[in-house]
Amino acid sequence: MSKEVISTPVIRRLPRYYRFLGELEREQVERISSRELAQRMGLSASQIRQDFNCFGGFGQQGYGYHVKALREVIGEILGVSGRTPMILIGAGNLGKAIAAHVDFHKRGCELIGIFDSNPLLAGTMTASLPIMPMETLDSFCQQHKPQAAVLCIPKDAAQQLAEKLVSLGLIGFWNFSHFDLRISNPDIIVENVHLGDSLMTLAYCLHDK
Ligand code: NAI
Repeated sequence: MSKEVISTPVIRRLPRYYRFLGELEREQVERISSRELAQRMGLSASQIRQDFNCFGGFGQQGYGYHVKALREVIGEILGVSGRTPMILIGAGNLGKAIAAHVDFHKRGCELIGIFDSNPLLAGTMTASLPIMPMETLDSFCQQHKPQAAVLCIPKDAAQQLAEKLVSLGLIGFWNFSHFDLRISNPDIIVENVHLGDSLMTLAYCLHDK
């Protein structure tokens, strides 16, 4: 099943399904009904059935979903068994935390290089990788061909740097820079992340109570 036929809202829910199914697998649950899964995840059973129907269903009336098989299919769609080479730019507080605590490997990615413009950081280690000066970015990209970048730099620098990275062949950005990148090429994939948005959602829900 190709990704093109699955809508973006469904794709956005897949990592969460993948995570919950992983928990079920660890609990050695072999199959689960949409109702049980819905209760666990705080979703509706019909939403789950609808989502899973997008890529072939996998549920059987009266049997439920086969946890392992369903997780494998979702993992395949998400590409977790792939090894997308990635670089991280901006090895400050956030960049170091992401490099050290995000399990790239588990999510089908490989962090292969870390860069920062601060000369004092050059050569120091983060997540078992040496931080490299920006002057080496071009040659590194030409040699190692990273496909995507994690941007943990100040927002003023983000757009220009992203454009440079596109010219160096990168096609994806996990962008934490607090600036929503504007890339006209529709083949470039941008995932802007704002932790504050998530916090505001929580604050709204608390306020609403
Ligand atoms: P920081 O100041 O600790 O680190 C920034 C690093 O980027 C520094 O090491 C600096 O030398 C480097 N840098 C600056 N300009 C650069 C450039 N043009 N090229 C390469 N390296 C460059 O800042 P911190 O706390 O790590 O935050 C980084 C960014 O992430 C900020 O823009 C901050 O607002 C944003 N942020 C975003 C969050 C989110 O939810 N999206 C959460 C927290 C921070």
